[in-house]
Amino acid sequence: MMSDWSTIEALPSPTLVELFAADAERLAMFSTDVAGIHFDWSKTHLTREAVAAFEQLCADRDLAGKRAALFAGEHVNVTEDRPVTHTMERGEGNPDIVAEARKFHQRMRALIDAIEGGALGEIRSILHVGIGGSALGPHLLVDALGRDEKRYEVAIVSNVDGVALEDVFARFDPTTTLLAVASKTFTTTETLLNAASVIQWMTEHGVDDPYGRVVALTANPDKAVEWGVDETRVLPFNEGVGGRYSLWSSIGFPAALGLGWGVFEELLEGAAEMDRHFRLTALHENAPALAAFADLYYTQVRHAETRAVFAYDERLRLLPSYLQQLEMESNGKSFTVDGEPVGRPTAAITWGGVGTEAQHAVFQLLHQGTHLVPVEFLGVIEGGDTLDENHHRQLLLNMFAQGAALMKGKPNADDPARSYSGDRPSSTLLLDDLDARTLGALIAFYEHRVFVNGVLLGINSFDQFGVELGKEMAKAADEGGQEFDVSTTDLIKRAGLD
Ligand code: F6P
Repeated sequence: MMSDWSTIEALPSPTLVELFAADAERLAMFSTDVAGIHFDWSKTHLTREAVAAFEQLCADRDLAGKRAALFAGEHVNVTEDRPVTHTMERGEGNPDIVAEARKFHQRMRALIDAIEGGALGEIRSILHVGIGGSALGPHLLVDALGRDEKRYEVAIVSNVDGVALEDVFARFDPTTTLLAVASKTFTTTETLLNAASVIQWMTEHGVDDPYGRVVALTANPDKAVEWGVDETRVLPFNEGVGGRYSLWSSIGFPAALGLGWGVFEELLEGAAEMDRHFRLTALHENAPALAAFADLYYTQVRHAETRAVFAYDERLRLLPSYLQQLEMESNGKSFTVDGEPVGRPTAAITWGGVGTEAQHAVFQLLHQGTHLVPVEFLGVIEGGDTLDENHHRQLLLNMFAQGAALMKGKPNADDPARSYSGDRPSSTLLLDDLDARTLGALIAFYEHRVFVNGVLLGINSFDQFGVELGKEMAKAADEGGQEFDVSTTDLIKRAGLD
């Protein structure tokens, strides 16, 4: 039997409370444990029937074949005619590409050993410049895992606004700073301008050979050498590793150096464990697939336009912005792989924040607003702090209570202002601990979830042409060769940039 969206749309939609009341096995059916992460989708409106219909949709859209093609290194990124190779960075998939990734990792490791052995002189801080996928991933890693033991001070700078660099210049010593220039293409204007300004800062502070302390992280080594980086300090990676999927490659250098090679390897192993789970587990128990089914249920059937991610753990505070790029750049598309209009909503708008802070800022809308916002909660059983245990207890209890309150609500017929409708969905990811292995598995889970969403929507999750037009026009504006509309021309003039 073919399944399409109308099959899923036609399914009955009881409330969450009714769903729990009707099925004593609901929690078991909609929760699973993988790689140190407990996933609970029981407070979503997924039903057994919906999962069955989604499984049928997966069969019709050949998810299994497309997943096999992804891991085999076939050219699944059709618009750019290349393979998608981030799983090979963690040893899963096409053996030739895996072998190449290992070779590149060994090269990175050797350079790290040399740096630790003093080959570049005394290094106390790492200044990593990059943007988008060349910054968000490494930033998340060092922020989440780099609190306890500080081997190096690490700063990640993306913004071309000089304030961002000057903040770092104010606290780093130019004579003991290593500059990592992270750019897959090595052509990104913001990154190259920032990198040049770091070189200038070093020069102005008496560093004899500033280029001698530059490491390039790129899939375009020739460009890096052309820019001035010595070939021995260029760390390449495979072109099929997309920017937003690149923290596993040399783009993860500040994490590998800053946190230690062993930590980086554990990250890769955790991701590989999730890769195997995704590849080998039946869909009704497959964490990325079930999460994607819930995503699609809300975007396609309930017309939710956004989804919110709240990390109830300070160490994961950068996760929502990391996911914004991963999910929105991957699946924010309007055309299918065949070039036809998708004709339905694609990626939800991902937003979020940190609990409990967010509760006192944006949760009003979640509990009483008119938008349907599926919420994702993330917590860690082993807390990151050493203060009185009440901190962590309050943190987690708040998270659990929010999920329960969203679901149950509290109607008040006499006073609508104090009435909570309830039946508002949430999913919960509960990590045993926030170590590198679990974080690797968590990020890989999100990557595969994006992939399943993309396959079921028929879109290519691996290109990002949408960002090009704005870049082209900014470049043209800089070069003075762009005719703008009246409003834009006026703004440029007002800013004195004409
Ligand atoms: O503009 C979007 C983008 O291409 C992202 O996909 C990418 O992560 C980012 O720019 C940075 O690109 P690069 O690593 O080539 O500097």
